[in-house]
Amino acid sequence: MSLQKRLNKFPKIALVTYPTPIERLNGISKYLGRDIYIKRDDLTPIAFGGNKLRKLEFLAADALNQGADSFVTGGAVQSNHVRQSAAVAAKLSLGFYALLENLINTKDKNYLTNSNRLLLDLFNAHVEEVEELNDPKAQLQEFADRLTVKKPYIIPIGGSNALGALGYVQASLEIANQIKDTGVNFAYILTASGSGGTHAGLAAGLFHVLKSIKLIGVSVSRKADEQMQKVASLVADIDNLLGIKTDANINIWDEYFPPRYGEPNEKCLEAVKLFAELDGVLLDPVYTGKAAAGLIDGVKKRRFSDNGAILFIHTGGASALFAYHKL
Ligand SMILES: Cc1ncc(COP(=O)(O)O)c(C=O)c1O
Repeated sequence: MSLQKRLNKFPKIALVTYPTPIERLNGISKYLGRDIYIKRDDLTPIAFGGNKLRKLEFLAADALNQGADSFVTGGAVQSNHVRQSAAVAAKLSLGFYALLENLINTKDKNYLTNSNRLLLDLFNAHVEEVEELNDPKAQLQEFADRLTVKKPYIIPIGGSNALGALGYVQASLEIANQIKDTGVNFAYILTASGSGGTHAGLAAGLFHVLKSIKLIGVSVSRKADEQMQKVASLVADIDNLLGIKTDANINIWDEYFPPRYGEPNEKCLEAVKLFAELDGVLLDPVYTGKAAAGLIDGVKKRRFSDNGAILFIHTGGASALFAYHKL
């Protein structure tokens, strides 16, 4: 059975307009002396877009099938995942509850109230602050148990379980079709790797439909070993769900996230500036800025062994820019 047929067995709610564009980044390509393309998953249509909407197509359908009356999830104060989930809850007339952590430990009012956090208020999200989401599964369950709603549906951090990650298995098929249609092929695909669903979905999908393309995940929060295990375990869960066998290499670059999650470094800020200046593309300071730092540094340091074109997945997040002063 084809991968598409296997995916079709899982109900979806339409939240994304497919396909998202793939464009050549003329400025960055010239700057690096290398063909660089971008997949505009930042242009998905709800509430400033981003990668979570692909996952939420599957998760929201599952929630409605179970008769859920609200979503429960969590993330950083400036989480893009929480912002997109809250918007989808509003669209589906569901309640929305989130645990928020202040991982960078800042008292900066702008960070604590502006950007994605401000949007949560517009979506009428109910939020509770926690010191740290160090045991998110238990914390979200305990939070859901305390709510007075009848049927909460817990969305894991980042929407990253096997069901949510199907959104990026589907995205791999979409990329394969775009390659067929345009004749532009890629030696590499590079994405930010956080809660891992995007990376794992792409790893599984590409292994089955675009095996020659090497996939790099730029970690935004964990050292390579830990992130590799996280992504590999999600790939195994996707395999179980779809009844497939994936034997892909999981490549993690972990040099670009320090000092820590949510705190930009110099190369990240430089990447945000270069994408804006040379191509008019807005990245974000937490995910895509660090992934783009990996892309730029990787080309400069010849970390990409093959000379072919590179496709950068723009996973969204620019709505967090206004929370960061350092830019
Ligand atoms: C803008 C952006 N890019 C990348 C990611 C990472 O995706 P994943 O959590 O699927 O690894 C996130 C996750 O929140 C995000 O908000």
